[in-house]
Amino acid sequence: MILPKTEDDIRKMKKAGKIVAEFFEKIETLIKPGVSAKKIDELGFEIAKKRGGVPSFYKYKGYPASVCVSVDQEVIHGIPYHDKILEEGSIVSVDYGVSYDGFHADAAKTYIVGNGDSLKKKLVEICERALYDSIKFLKPGMKTGDLGYFIYTFVRKNGFSVIRDFCGHGIGKQIHEDPPIPNYGEQGKGITLMQNMTICIEPMICAGSGDVIIQKDNWTVITADGSLSAHFEHTIRIRDGENEILTI
Ligand code: MF3
Ligand code: CO
Repeated sequence: MILPKTEDDIRKMKKAGKIVAEFFEKIETLIKPGVSAKKIDELGFEIAKKRGGVPSFYKYKGYPASVCVSVDQEVIHGIPYHDKILEEGSIVSVDYGVSYDGFHADAAKTYIVGNGDSLKKKLVEICERALYDSIKFLKPGMKTGDLGYFIYTFVRKNGFSVIRDFCGHGIGKQIHEDPPIPNYGEQGKGITLMQNMTICIEPMICAGSGDVIIQKDNWTVITADGSLSAHFEHTIRIRDGENEILTI
């Protein structure tokens, strides 16, 4: 049974979401060639602390940092090692979550470092549109399969693949709650999405087959064929009328 959030729960999630949004504003100018992923992680740790929140990922299932920084063929869960240095033309996905007063918010965005080629630009643009168009598409009463089908067909139509091994998710007191929100699905199938449920929609897409493998560090997920990958995510409150993005 998935319970809708109360107004009070949502208020806390919005506070967490504001901290996440502040982080993404701040790193906009930081994403440059020569910058270490560790620097981005440090900023995530500091902003959460300064605003009275807690970084959601730090120590989650043993994750060793506050932010995930995934470069090029890395899809998600890239550890922000200090020697992971951003290079001109690479694409970097940054994923960050915060809890405030016991409630989480979670978002991700992919940046091009300096100037990228046209494939990189298109990959990032399609992934971002998959997120924003699906937020517009989603209405209370729809199934998770309807949402997944929408994302999947949009991404395929544009020549890219979705990652099937990882999903979006419900969110609230836990960073990962039911229901799973896959980026594929069958129309009319899955779990019914209702008013005031809070979910993370997070298209993870790539230029190759969509198969992934986990690196030896047990975290970093990379594309099996080495193809480039992008990831966008927002925490959403489902509503009649326009859905509310809590991480802006
Ligand atoms: N942000 C990821 C998600 O969207 C969670 C990161 S899990 C961690 O589900 F273990 F890396 F922290
Ligand atoms: Co998430």
